[in-house]
Amino acid sequence: MTERAVLAYSGGLDTSVTIRWLVDQGFEVHAVVVDVGQQDDFAGLVERGMHAGATTVRVADAVDRFAAGYLTRAIVANALYEGAYPMVSGLARPCITEEVVRVARELGAGTVAHGCTGKGNDQVRFEVSFMVLAPDLRIVAPIRDANMAREKALALAAEWGIAVPAVSSTYSVDENLWGRTVECGPLEDPWVAPPEDAFARTAPPEARPSEPAEVVLAFERGVPVGIDGEPRSLPDIVRSLDVLGGAYGFGRVDMIENRRVGIKSRELYEVPGALSIIRAHRALEDLTLERDLAHHKPALEARWADLVYDGQWFGPLRAAIDAYIGSTQRDVTGEVRLRYEPGSCTVVGRRSDRSLYDLSLATYGGDDAFDHADAAGYLRLYGLPLKVWAARQGGSP
Ligand code: ARG
Repeated sequence: MTERAVLAYSGGLDTSVTIRWLVDQGFEVHAVVVDVGQQDDFAGLVERGMHAGATTVRVADAVDRFAAGYLTRAIVANALYEGAYPMVSGLARPCITEEVVRVARELGAGTVAHGCTGKGNDQVRFEVSFMVLAPDLRIVAPIRDANMAREKALALAAEWGIAVPAVSSTYSVDENLWGRTVECGPLEDPWVAPPEDAFARTAPPEARPSEPAEVVLAFERGVPVGIDGEPRSLPDIVRSLDVLGGAYGFGRVDMIENRRVGIKSRELYEVPGALSIIRAHRALEDLTLERDLAHHKPALEARWADLVYDGQWFGPLRAAIDAYIGSTQRDVTGEVRLRYEPGSCTVVGRRSDRSLYDLSLATYGGDDAFDHADAAGYLRLYGLPLKVWAARQGGSP
């Protein structure tokens, strides 16, 4: 019996070449395109996969599961790898893995496959996730194991009559609801400014509206639930802010990033929706989290981002940190005003019934509940250690 392999299929260059490669190795290939909000031409992808030699190509709709199970957690964790990247690919890979394993079980397949190279993080995320969810399945990774350079993959695609979209012959792109990632081609030189043709979700400077636009984003326990007073689903909110922010050219990230596999790489991201939401969420936390909690949480957020970036989604530490972060969100309910201007998104207002901001304490006006005499006594104690120390310095600290 020919062995069945279930492939995580994106429809791009590498995974299309992988289909044909596996077929040539004697596998019966079942390709799974997981819809995590990438807005692709799915019919075209199915056709390309079949043309490449797959026995079946199916599209699995995981948008709601991706939003509910992954993005909500990323939002409450203000998840930005190295302070900048909202982990578009890092969040999607474990979600895709779940679908691939589900199909592998359904078909009784003994092999799962991915089309990642040996230099990237996505191989780590897929394989570590497979090891947890389906340790009995064999994993094959032809592009990596054949050490296939991009030129070679392009040549094979041409030889095998597999048409690849124009953009993927220049750049390596990954996309989903949370944003778009771009690598390779001219970007490999970190000194080269990003060419305009690398961008697809964010408008170039000359096409951005000059009039600002404002939206009010509502949160409940840390999760976005509505825009401008209208209750909306999370995928809908992310998409709306992505389109709005993108029109203003907001949400471009150009960074040098440290990959799990030890390489520094130059990456471009287009993430207007993700960055708008995280920015707004932080602003609401500023208003509603007690001081020590607010100071402690970011350390765990950074750890969470590292874990997810590194492919540890299904590990116990990620789940434990999620439990902690979940417990911090009880009062993160309220609204944030975001203003979009060309190239920017700024928080210009926030309000919450759970706010810890107390005007009678904060005001510099006359109606003041803050006891100024308390401040004088408090400062005598607060400054005491330094006063004692300074006295020992002989008057010249
Ligand atoms: N550097 C990013 C990450 O590791 C983006 C990866 C994009 N993946 C891709 N197959 N093009 O998350």
